[in-house]
Parts: sequence; structure tokens; C-alpha cells
Amino acid sequence: MAPQQDDAVEGSLEARYFCVGSVEDFAIPEGKTASCTPVPLADDPKRRVNLIHKIDTTAKDGPKTKFHAVLNICPHQGAPLHKGVVTDIEDMGIIWGTAITCHLHGWTYDVTTGTCENSRTILDCFDVKVVDARVWVSRQPSNLDVKGPRRDFGGNELDA
Ligand code: FES
Repeated sequence: MAPQQDDAVEGSLEARYFCVGSVEDFAIPEGKTASCTPVPLADDPKRRVNLIHKIDTTAKDGPKTKFHAVLNICPHQGAPLHKGVVTDIEDMGIIWGTAITCHLHGWTYDVTTGTCENSRTILDCFDVKVVDARVWVSRQPSNLDVKGPRRDFGGNELDA
């Protein structure tokens, strides 16, 4: 199944994104619909992002896979979100997004906006690009325009 392919961005890709590996490094296991892999943030290696690779059934030209990235620290009590469960956000039978549910207490976050079903807390989300089969994550969160309290526990995943 082909992954998303983004055009190269204007200007230097490296200035705003960092490469985390090749698409094959984040293969979705047989029989699963998504994988979660924690990767260090380039500019703050103490903190990690949870790189989500998911089968996207919403693509008009057939299923593809799509990447998302969120801070790997649940804003509730700091559990590592790569242990969570990736699900579709669906309404009236229409799938319009992707969410991750923390394994510890079940808080659920939209992986694009960072909004939480269970509280006002916002999870940092990062843009992901696939260029020439390499996966790139934005150095800065992509959802800073979404207002709400954010917590990263000083970069410590409390239930690693
Ligand atoms: S630590 Fe994630 S829901 Fe409580």
C-alpha cells in the first residue's frame, strides 16, 4: 500500500523539518491498521514524538497509508502515547480524522488539532511529510493556533 507522498516544500526542508527515517522503518504490522513509534525530537532529544503510521481509508483513489505525529507525552498524567490505541474519528458513518487514546486512563486526542475528548487540554501535534520515501517531522508543533492548556511534564514520560 502506497504511503502519502508530499511535494518538497519551498525553501530548505531541513530548516523546518527533521528526517526520522524511511517509510519502511515504520511499517504497519501484518493484520494491524496502524503502528506507533516513539522518535526523539531533533531540537530537544529528551522529548519524543509518537510517529503514527495508519491506513487511511478516506483517500478517494483507494486506501493509502498516512503519517501523523504527536508529542509522546499524554497531557493528563504523562503516559507515553505510543502505547495508546489509534482509531478513526467517525460521525454518521463518515470517517473524517484520526485519534489516539491513551492506554492509562483513556483520554482521546485528535492527532491533527490536538483537542481532547475528555478535557480542555491540548496535545502538541507535528506536521509530517513524506518526500522520496523519507519521513520528515516538523521541528515545531503545527497546532499552536489551537488554544488551551498544554503540559509536557518537562519532557518526562511518566509511565515509560
Ligand atoms: S495519563 Fe493519559 S489519560 Fe491519564
